[in-house]
Amino acid sequence: MSKFTKEDYLKLIHDIAKYDEYYYQHHKPLISDFTYDQLLKQVEDLEKQHPEWIAASSPTQDVRERPTKGFVQVAHEVPMLSLANSYSYEEIEDFIKRVHKLLGRSASFCAELKMDGIAVSLRYEKGLFVRGLTRGDGKEGDDITRNIMTIKGVPSKLHGEHIPAILEVRGEVYMPKEVFMQLNLAKEEAGEDVWANPRNAAAGSLKLLDPEEVRKRHLEIMVYGIAQQETFLTTQSEVHVQLQKWGFPTLSSEYRTECIDADELLTFAQKIESKRATLPFEIDGMVIKVNCLKDWDLLGTTAKSPRWAIAYKFSALQATTVIEDITVQVGRTGVLTPVAELKPVFLAGSTISRASLHNEEEIQRKDIRIGDHVIIEKGGDVIPKVVNVDFSQRPSHLIVWKMPTRCPICETLVVKKEGEVAVRCPNVKCLAQSQRRFIFFASKQAMDIDHLGEKVMLKLIEHGLVKDFSDIYRLTAEQLATLEGFQEKSIQNLLSSIEASKQVILPKFILALGIAHVGIGTAELIAECVKGVEDLQHLTVDRLLQIEGIGDKVAHSFVEYFQNQSHIHEIEELIKLG
Ligand code: IVH
Repeated sequence: MSKFTKEDYLKLIHDIAKYDEYYYQHHKPLISDFTYDQLLKQVEDLEKQHPEWIAASSPTQDVRERPTKGFVQVAHEVPMLSLANSYSYEEIEDFIKRVHKLLGRSASFCAELKMDGIAVSLRYEKGLFVRGLTRGDGKEGDDITRNIMTIKGVPSKLHGEHIPAILEVRGEVYMPKEVFMQLNLAKEEAGEDVWANPRNAAAGSLKLLDPEEVRKRHLEIMVYGIAQQETFLTTQSEVHVQLQKWGFPTLSSEYRTECIDADELLTFAQKIESKRATLPFEIDGMVIKVNCLKDWDLLGTTAKSPRWAIAYKFSALQATTVIEDITVQVGRTGVLTPVAELKPVFLAGSTISRASLHNEEEIQRKDIRIGDHVIIEKGGDVIPKVVNVDFSQRPSHLIVWKMPTRCPICETLVVKKEGEVAVRCPNVKCLAQSQRRFIFFASKQAMDIDHLGEKVMLKLIEHGLVKDFSDIYRLTAEQLATLEGFQEKSIQNLLSSIEASKQVILPKFILALGIAHVGIGTAELIAECVKGVEDLQHLTVDRLLQIEGIGDKVAHSFVEYFQNQSHIHEIEELIKLG
């Protein structure tokens, strides 16, 4: 007998609807995919035991991705189904057994990366791209043609031979991890809400109404299938090769393989999982497909998913720990960021003791308090995040956390602009801000000074060797030798990487200056319209506004920066130093 009552079942459905709303409408998941799948499975199990309970609003009865206002809905010629999930060797074995049983013989499988992005369908007529749709409810999706056209690598015209009169390809639009991190950093600094993960970032971006805004999100696509069953191709492996010949970005051969049994599939999965953290995009598992396309017809589909494929999901990189404290960090533009100080816990190769909590609203939304037991997760990017609180373990006395009213470093009263989530320390001389500015200046994304990481930079500042950016280029071996821990080799390494950074490209130099609201995308646009560094200070608001992609806020912030004589002087010094 199940210990669940009908009320528990209805509560589960209600909770899932809330999680769906946050996931699909706000692109801010409240729980991890793994926990979500477990809840869904619980609903399915309960419905099997008590078919009389099944509610019309159950996620099993219901389509999940909701249409978005502002887009036209168009029917898919071939429905876009989703995949059943599996998490274990046994479940893969069961899938293989099922396929063998239904076919009455054995089969071979094509295993490939499961990209963690947004499913899309692209339609080509006589070799020309005519339409792009989201999955929507699987039967009809949002027409996002103009947004798809901004994505690098989507061919407007197919290349090569054997071009069908009508072709619909299926693929995944995603935001590369690097782009995600850069754009999120810019969002954090602009005081905006950050995206929870690259998948949400891609979802939100695809649904923007202005394609020019979508272009700035630097989305990419990976195409992995053809919707039409009638083709000259016989296997899924051939599909990948043909898609590539037509000019689509596809999974390279190291990211797909042919297998015949669960052992081979698991070995491939382990190989992929070991590379997961270093891939430039997020994956959440692998997809196993019967390789022979004729068998797809024979196996058919259930209402929701094909019988010829299954997803094997990698376990989310999660652990449970306790929030020992919430401290506040001051960033280079003065934004105060709350940070969870965690009871150290080992997770996927490293010990984690801190995680950014982004802003006060995020803390309120997840109701995170000091003393809480929390689930933390390491996504594809290495920065850990707090997924949610385990409320069942919350002691009764925990108090709601509040952002301090004064900067924890310089004690200036903090400010919060209307409409922004960020709280800032307005004091540009605040020590924390200048330390962060210097660290950012030398970082990989900016001047890329290899041996000048956070620790070294803080030491240089502490000893008064770096007060301005240009001081970095005046450092001598003798000065460095006076610092603890610096040997001949490390001094040489540091000086040569400082020297090498003089070759940095102009957009990175502009970015390194740390002008508010100027991210790498904007820096690139600005760099394109000047001959060299010397011209930057002469750009006017009007000139900047002529550049497509630059708005009022950025233009004013840029010009304001150059109205400060000390900034101009500093850039002149940097030019003199090479
Ligand atoms: S095949 C019937 N192959 O995973 C659906 N899907 O959980 C056949 N996905 O909606 C899909 N990588 O958005 C397929 N290599 C891959 C995939 C892939 C990512 C996504 C896709 C699908 C979802 C199902």
